[in-house]
Amino acid sequence: MAYEKLFTPGRIGPLTIRNRSVMSPMGTDFADTNGNASPRLIAYFAERAKGGIGLIINEYTGVDDVDSIPTQHNLRMAQDYNIKAAEELTETVHMYGAKIFAQLHHGGATSKSAFTGRQNLSPSGIPMAPGGEVPREMTLEDIKRVQDKFVAAAVRCKKAGYDGVELHAAHGYLMTQFLSEYYNHRTDDYGGSLENRCRFIDEVIAAIREKLGNYPISVRICGDEMTAQEGFWDLEGGLAIGRHLEAQGIDCINISNGSSWNGNANCEPFSYVPGWKKHVAKAFKEALSIPVIATNTIKDPDFAESLLEEGVSDFVALGRSQFADPAFMNKAKAGHPEKIRNCIACMYCRERLLGNAMPVQCSLNPRLGREYRYRWQDLQKNGGGRPVVVVGGGPGGLECAIILAKRGFTVTVLEKGPALGGTLNIAKLPPFKANLQGVIDVLAAEAEELGVTIKLNTEATAELVRSMDPVGVFLAVGAPPVVPKSIPGIENAVLAEDVILGSVPCEGDVVLVGTGLTGLECAEMILEQGRRLTMVEMNPTVGQGIYNVVFNDIMSRITPHAPTILTSHQLMAVTGDGAEVKDLASGETKTLTAGTVVLALGTRPQPDLLAAFEAAGLNAVLLGSAETPGRIAGAVRGGFEKAWTFDAE
Ligand SMILES: Cc1cc2nc3c(=O)[nH]c(=O)nc-3n(C[C@H](O)[C@H](O)[C@H](O)COP(=O)(O)O)c2cc1C
Repeated sequence: MAYEKLFTPGRIGPLTIRNRSVMSPMGTDFADTNGNASPRLIAYFAERAKGGIGLIINEYTGVDDVDSIPTQHNLRMAQDYNIKAAEELTETVHMYGAKIFAQLHHGGATSKSAFTGRQNLSPSGIPMAPGGEVPREMTLEDIKRVQDKFVAAAVRCKKAGYDGVELHAAHGYLMTQFLSEYYNHRTDDYGGSLENRCRFIDEVIAAIREKLGNYPISVRICGDEMTAQEGFWDLEGGLAIGRHLEAQGIDCINISNGSSWNGNANCEPFSYVPGWKKHVAKAFKEALSIPVIATNTIKDPDFAESLLEEGVSDFVALGRSQFADPAFMNKAKAGHPEKIRNCIACMYCRERLLGNAMPVQCSLNPRLGREYRYRWQDLQKNGGGRPVVVVGGGPGGLECAIILAKRGFTVTVLEKGPALGGTLNIAKLPPFKANLQGVIDVLAAEAEELGVTIKLNTEATAELVRSMDPVGVFLAVGAPPVVPKSIPGIENAVLAEDVILGSVPCEGDVVLVGTGLTGLECAEMILEQGRRLTMVEMNPTVGQGIYNVVFNDIMSRITPHAPTILTSHQLMAVTGDGAEVKDLASGETKTLTAGTVVLALGTRPQPDLLAAFEAAGLNAVLLGSAETPGRIAGAVRGGFEKAWTFDAE
């Protein structure tokens, strides 16, 4: 059998799990404002259960709706009224053969006083980071009250049909704060020695045992906090906690990494090579005898299998991979790993949830969180073989072609270039971005399997498309770069896209204008060539609009090269030997000498194209970046939505 280890059933306490995959807990913001599992959340988890996952550990689930409300739509088990919808959730997951735990959570000092209207609780009144909101030190009564809330939530979980609970003692939340020497300075029974720092969680574990017998209990901790600050624990410290918790009789341990200061060690951006942290989980597996669950940046089943083979963990935890493709496990089981949409660690899910306080979305999976609305059985299969044309073979165009083909249209994709992929063929070239080729490959293969005809090197004129007599033409042509013609000498500048492609070499020192994502990625490539670089940005800071995790990751590689960065400076002219820029604060004009001036000023939509195709009598639809310049997520969503709702009658 393919993936023999992955598909061997496993045990957690009294529970048998059908295979070794665990869906890692991930906040979604799909619950309702009372913390109830909504139809949206239930459909989302049903899809993962259907997709073959063994155990779902659902997102952090609040035990306290008075002192801990992390977001307005996070799941809770803080009240008896949360049980009813939770039962519907567990029943649905069970229908498809998966098991489900709730991850019980209290934010402590991370809570949002803006939502609770109260000062946050914490072991010792230490803010999460210096200068942050100051929480209050919990009294012994507070401790007992919050512990009781954990236990009451566990009792509700059992009543609602959950197969077990996980105590969230990772990532800096309340249980971590007690375990931590940085956050816990108490001098009573709950602080000081390891035993005392563990007392908060130990008493919760004991009380759950007392009430619920052998009901499975998992604890999630960071094996190594990987934080260069005294008081945060390293692997040895993590192992000491792990051994202690095992002695309390927990059924399994779920190993994450990092801390509230180092989120990247938990949820990595694309520059981290899968496997970089596997030594941590392996150390726990060697030190403990209870089952070890661990995330390890798992994007494909081969890697998952290799981790199990190497003895890194007993269960492999799939986080973002379950966002990107809920059928990950079924595709692996069917021997078709190449059909899996592999997560690209673009961090868009996290940006939505943590950066924008909005429900998660996924760049590669436009149905994420909308499974209840875009149900496959509702897809109108009324294409009847009628021809449609998709112009542009980027991610938006391919997704559009896939859905149109599923609807029964006869689909032809016209791609101007020699290969599919559109701007992904540029986006995949900067350091650590090669995995974007996988996005092109998986979408192309899906389209091909559905019988989509692909014509490369074919410029789609309105005449050509008309000659194909389609009932619809979908313009997924992407967005061309902005080149402001009003700037004198602009024709002497080159485009960041061409520099990234290597089709235009840089000469001498370089001035790069614009510091969006393309600009920064281009800067990194130029600096790697050993060139002196001046980055010019009109805004007061560089990288505006880039999610801070991605921004910090790129800047950590750019900063050591010490480029000159001129913020609040505007490009005025491109000259024969450089550029003139204006300091927007002082009004002063400066001359920058350079062999190459590179433009990374963003992209523009193409509404004129829509008008041109419509004028030719075609039923034209504009989508993706051609409609609204954006990223992969917008392109894929656009392609999906326009194809789903297309009315050809
Ligand atoms: C959007 C998002 C929300 C998350 N929420 C939680 C959470 O509620 N509890 C938790 O323990 N970890 C949470 N995590 C971390 C994941 O469980 C997991 O450790 C991380 O994504 C790394 O695994 P992966 O590389 O397989 O995605 C979250 C991650 C993401 C991307």
